[in-house]
Amino acid sequence: MAQLTTSPQKATRPPSGFSRRDFLRGSGAVAAATAVHQQATAIAQEVKAAAVPISGEQSIDLDVNGKPVKVKAEPRTTLLDVLRLQLDLTGAKPICTDGSSGGATVLVDGKPMQANMMLAMQAVGKKIQTVESLVGDAVPNAFVACDAQQCGFCTPGFVVAVRAFLNQKPKATEEEIRAGLNGNLCRCGTYANIIHAALMVVKGGTNG
Ligand code: FES
Repeated sequence: MAQLTTSPQKATRPPSGFSRRDFLRGSGAVAAATAVHQQATAIAQEVKAAAVPISGEQSIDLDVNGKPVKVKAEPRTTLLDVLRLQLDLTGAKPICTDGSSGGATVLVDGKPMQANMMLAMQAVGKKIQTVESLVGDAVPNAFVACDAQQCGFCTPGFVVAVRAFLNQKPKATEEEIRAGLNGNLCRCGTYANIIHAALMVVKGGTNG
């Protein structure tokens, strides 16, 4: 029986000696080198930008509850301190220092964030909503109707968290609400009534 002595690759190699495979291999290397160069350039630009330190108190513009406000902030100043100490918006609470309680929940561009875990300067150019902007909203009304608070210390954080969650999931089930609120803690243990309040908003059709 005749033996196959020529490989398929050798059989298709053009007379020039430069195959399609060689071309692809070469262009891939060029693309990889370009990507590395671009990444290195981006990192260099970031390092350059970071090399200009901001120090001392700065005047910054924020958008809080639909209004433009001018505040003073050092680079270390948290959004929570600005809200409470300069704007007198004391709904968000400094219950913890690591964001584990959910007491400082505010909406930043519609997403729930912990104001004590965010620098005021990071909030520039973003829309900040505190619990004070939810007066008359279905969520705080449902909290009142369901008696969903005891000491009330955690309540503003929960109200904002429920509003944020139901904005994303207006027809949420009880299980989904329980899972969605797992970043907020209530030391008085009013969880059952908080869930009832959220479900009242879902079922009452007054969500938002
Ligand atoms: S009502 Fe007291 S901590 Fe929640």
